[in-house]
Amino acid sequence: MQNNLDAQKRIVELTVLLKEANDAYYMKDSPQISDYEYDMLLRELENLEKQYPQFQAADSPTKKVGGKAGGGFGQIHHAAPLLSLMNAFNKEEILSFVNKASQNKEEKPTFVVEPKIDGLTVVLTYENGVFTKGATRGDGEIGEDITENLKTIKQIPRFIPTQASLLVVRGEAYLAKGDFARLNAQREEAEEPLFANPRNAAAGSLRQLNPEVTAQRPLKLFCYDIVHMEGISLQTQQAYLTYLQEMGFPVNDEKFVSKDPEAIWQYIVQFTEKRHQLPYDIDGLVLKIDDLSLRELLGSTIKAPRWAIAYKFPPEEKETQLLSIEVNVGRTGVLTPAGTFIPVQLAGTTVSHASLHNEDFIKEKDLRIGDWVVIHKAGDIIPEVVRVLPEKRNGKEQIFTMPAICPECGAKVIRFDGEAAHRCSNTSSCPSQIRESLIHFASKAGMDIDGLGPAVITQLLDEKLIHHAADLYDLKLEQLVELDRFAEKSAKNLLNAIDKSKKNPLWRLLAGLGIRLIGGKVAKTLAKNFGTMERLEAATSEELQAIAEIGPKMADSLLNWFAQPQNRALLSALKEKGLFMGEEILKKEGNLPLTGKTFVLTGTLPHLTREEATALIEEAGGKVSSSISKKTSYLLLGEEPGSKYEKALSLQIPILEEDDFRQLLASKE
Ligand code: IVH
Repeated sequence: MQNNLDAQKRIVELTVLLKEANDAYYMKDSPQISDYEYDMLLRELENLEKQYPQFQAADSPTKKVGGKAGGGFGQIHHAAPLLSLMNAFNKEEILSFVNKASQNKEEKPTFVVEPKIDGLTVVLTYENGVFTKGATRGDGEIGEDITENLKTIKQIPRFIPTQASLLVVRGEAYLAKGDFARLNAQREEAEEPLFANPRNAAAGSLRQLNPEVTAQRPLKLFCYDIVHMEGISLQTQQAYLTYLQEMGFPVNDEKFVSKDPEAIWQYIVQFTEKRHQLPYDIDGLVLKIDDLSLRELLGSTIKAPRWAIAYKFPPEEKETQLLSIEVNVGRTGVLTPAGTFIPVQLAGTTVSHASLHNEDFIKEKDLRIGDWVVIHKAGDIIPEVVRVLPEKRNGKEQIFTMPAICPECGAKVIRFDGEAAHRCSNTSSCPSQIRESLIHFASKAGMDIDGLGPAVITQLLDEKLIHHAADLYDLKLEQLVELDRFAEKSAKNLLNAIDKSKKNPLWRLLAGLGIRLIGGKVAKTLAKNFGTMERLEAATSEELQAIAEIGPKMADSLLNWFAQPQNRALLSALKEKGLFMGEEILKKEGNLPLTGKTFVLTGTLPHLTREEATALIEEAGGKVSSSISKKTSYLLLGEEPGSKYEKALSLQIPILEEDDFRQLLASKE
């Protein structure tokens, strides 16, 4: 900094930037800058404030922990301040921390190194062993009351066998990488905005005013700290972790204990590589002094303890060149540009392709073919362009425009008002839409036909054995055995699987048709409310919107789909082939075996997945609820049950294991 004025200006600028970044990260769960950029700006501000303390703002972001309790939730005053951590970015900073902590000590202190889970801090309060309160960190003093949302997380015990009259546990709620990818895929399907990474997805899921939304997100948890305890006494971090595990909290197995600074650094180096193999995101490692009495001696600043430090991984970003943009046509006719890049190693894999989403994304980034770009992986999985490097341009870069005609069928491309997507207008015969629709029809999200994946569908289309979904049900053994990669056995298996799908519940067919905005969950609601395809087809917009989950956009999409003659023709062809369209449900309506019964599921069942058990219950007229109450009719019990089991016992709710459940279904048929 050249002079006071420059320093003051920069301090104000950094203060504003960091406040905005805090707001985007903590309050809106939608970060505008990367964590690394944030940390670097914060460091710059800390250094400037040290040199020019007279310019420090009273509410400087360097003084306090990020968020504040947001609107819509009650407030919880934490039992003790929830501090943040100091950061280290290299070996020197780690060794300096270890050496400082060891100075003047006769015996070298022991350190515990733990993965730093990239999620959302949660604080769980247990009074006499009962889970009574759950909060976010907020500003470190006051957090948001998210108790009801936390109760939907299976891993959080509702009761613990503790001697402590009060136990306050700190942990990190997160979404596993795979669950994050699935959630975003569902959101893309429902045309909802995507989450930038698993952390935002976890935060967005927990900070929901409606706990039912939280319940549908597969949130997980790791606990790593006891913020406050009364009635018990523990002396070390290792004892904390063991105790938490004994009490039934999820505790991360990954940890390293050592007194040796070099060994600690080696562990950090090895773990930096290993992190991509973990099923969850971590953004660093936390290095903590084990002995609690030593921690007390060292104390804390207002923001962070002196007995712990976070090693933050350098950002996983790579520079590469965009070589070309290819446009793919999806099953709903949406044109998606995809970039091909010079292959680079990134977060454990070679990356050479990334979706460029839509034309707006390309325009916003001013991305041109031939540009050098920075790419990263969202949630360690999905490659994405972060920014363009205009300084590397040589003038030969080409501006991309969306094609005016469909690259697959030559039909006109249209863009509806208010939509980011361009679509091929040929909904009935665009080969790409047909192929993608068939792939979706047969997929797990739709009719779930075993052995009928993208490769087989492409083969069947190429051989002109099928043109649309109804043709699948006319396939013959003689035709299949002629095809490459098919033997008599695999052909028979495929035909059996196709035949079996005729008996699928109505929602599978509805979801498999690939109607815009109608995914599996909405399809189930529609099937439940209308019972038959015929009734659904005849429903008016008002009747559709009378259902809580169905809004005007979904209603329009359904009406529009049923209004197309080719769609109606497909439905009657499928009906002719004998596909179940809900008729029997109509006959039994009102008199289904489990009408009026509410089930709660806990633990893993030996043969049924949670979805399959839910489908069986719902098809038989029953309901599935996420929490036990006096009104629950049955608890369906699997292995490693959660606290619902104890609650069911205490409320004397009848408990069924999978066999009993099957018997119940059979006896009522
Ligand atoms: S220890 C006062 N251990 O990282 C010390 N924190 O930047 C308490 N985090 O919001 C924190 N994994 O919630 C600790 N194994 C771990 C952690 C961890 C994730 C979070 C923590 C805090 C952030 C600090």
